[in-house]
Amino acid sequence: MSEKKKQVKRIFDSIAYRYDFLNHLLSFGTDYYWRRKAIKYSGMNENSILLDVACGTGDFAITAHNAGVKNIYGADLSYKMLKLFNSKAEWIKGCSVEMVAEFLPFKDSSFTNITVAFGVRNFYDIPKAFSSFRSVLKPNGKVTILEFRLPKNIFFKVLYKFYFTRILPLIGNLISRDKEAYIYLPESVHEFDEKINLKELLEQADFSKVDTKSLTFGIVQVVIATK
Ligand SMILES: C[S@@+](CC[C@H](N)C(=O)[O-])C[C@H]1O[C@@H](n2cnc3c(N)ncnc32)[C@H](O)[C@@H]1O
Repeated sequence: MSEKKKQVKRIFDSIAYRYDFLNHLLSFGTDYYWRRKAIKYSGMNENSILLDVACGTGDFAITAHNAGVKNIYGADLSYKMLKLFNSKAEWIKGCSVEMVAEFLPFKDSSFTNITVAFGVRNFYDIPKAFSSFRSVLKPNGKVTILEFRLPKNIFFKVLYKFYFTRILPLIGNLISRDKEAYIYLPESVHEFDEKINLKELLEQADFSKVDTKSLTFGIVQVVIATK
């Protein structure tokens, strides 16, 4: 197993039971708004066949379900996160075994849509994951990605960095009892923001019409690409 895969699996297995609570607390509830916005941008409807990758405890898939999408599959690396998802939503499919984004065990052209919220940053091989997304998507299928970014405005960036690197790890550690997890979060966002251009990587994976949108002073980005 790659080092990153091992580390990410350990972290999410360890914080699974505190994940939802901490997510809503540390984002002041804004995560609900981000997920709703991204699902709206994805343009899904009741005929969509959705695979939510890195589904975790299921909040993104549940947002899609609430917006009328009926046929939803989930895939995640952490069995403990999947178990919690299963306990929240009996309609979810495919959530009984661990799956990685890099090797999705579905037939080619199975889905009209793939969504990933706050997951791509954790993938151990993003190009491999995007090529696996392309295979399992139907022609004209869409990928919708929601991910953290660092704000561009200097004043807001300083404030945000202070919160993200000082306050957030303190609260995260206190509640989850996993120090590494809430040090990993700001570090991974920082590294991702510096090194990863999702538009470029999706185009290299042969996706077209890659569209990006920025939310909440640029701390979150939505990327939509078409096969
Ligand atoms: C921050 S959580 C996001 C969960 C959910 N999408 C949400 O919006 O709350 C990231 C999830 O990505 C999963 N993950 C990380 N790397 C993965 C990979 N290579 N393949 C599949 N899932 C992965 C983790 O297990 C974790 O559940």
